[in-house]
Amino acid sequence: MGTATVTQPRLDTTDLEQQVKEMYRKVALDPGGDFHFELGRALAERLGYPSAELDRVPAQAIDSFAGVGYYFGLARLQPGESVLDLGSGSSMDAFVAALQVGKSGKVVGVDMTDEQLAKAERLRAGAGFDNVSYLKGYIERVRCADGTFDAVISNGVINLAPDKQQVFDEAARLLRVGGRLAIADIVTEVQLPAGITGNATLWAACIGGAMQVQQYVEAIERAGLRVHTVQDNPQYRFVSRNAQAAVGKYGVKSVSILAFKA
Ligand SMILES: C[S@@+](CC[C@H](N)C(=O)[O-])C[C@H]1O[C@@H](n2cnc3c(N)ncnc32)[C@H](O)[C@@H]1O
Repeated sequence: MGTATVTQPRLDTTDLEQQVKEMYRKVALDPGGDFHFELGRALAERLGYPSAELDRVPAQAIDSFAGVGYYFGLARLQPGESVLDLGSGSSMDAFVAALQVGKSGKVVGVDMTDEQLAKAERLRAGAGFDNVSYLKGYIERVRCADGTFDAVISNGVINLAPDKQQVFDEAARLLRVGGRLAIADIVTEVQLPAGITGNATLWAACIGGAMQVQQYVEAIERAGLRVHTVQDNPQYRFVSRNAQAAVGKYGVKSVSILAFKA
């Protein structure tokens, strides 16, 4: 009798990048469309963004907001600080950060999806956010010098990255000593099986790439950052049936994390 070999599906990262770009192209161009996740102002308010702050941000940026948590309470951005937003999308968080750091500060958003960058730049120019700029590129390798930023922020993005260690290493490189990483992201209580982690479509849907929370924290610390806070964001709800099933089975959830560069 022969021995059966079980081949575990391996993630096709080229396919994943195309699927993520296609998903967020639609988020930029047609935020009222049908998505497996929530978008927009009601989501932002439920997560904890103060309405008074949202009132000062272009409404179209809020319409395409696809974040998973509010981490600005942890980030405590100060006037004059420089901030990097990894996966800045249509720029709602970059605008919120820009209001907090003021005209003497600066915010740089990085994203790989052309339509998100074009929308963000159009809204930035229209609203006169002179302290915000964007870089087209990957969060795994950002074209900025070591120690450039006081804070690195990110919302709902790192779960989409195939190599999260590379993202955290890059964030640590870009932070000054004493600077902080303040993020919200999707993680799991239990390691997802290979049938899910090998499926690019489930990654693009913000499930397949979710890392087990303890491993996620360890990856941040391996990058040379000290994790200070990990808090659950129960206000974040999963809308698709697939995602809701994964919540029950694997403890898929949103967390906000604050870490410092020693
Ligand atoms: C879930 S959306 C979040 C956008 C924004 N942070 C927000 O809260 O609305 C994910 C964004 O990250 C970008 N993205 C995903 N993976 C990326 C990568 N490896 N490099 C650069 N951008 C990436 C996508 O293009 C998309 O705009």
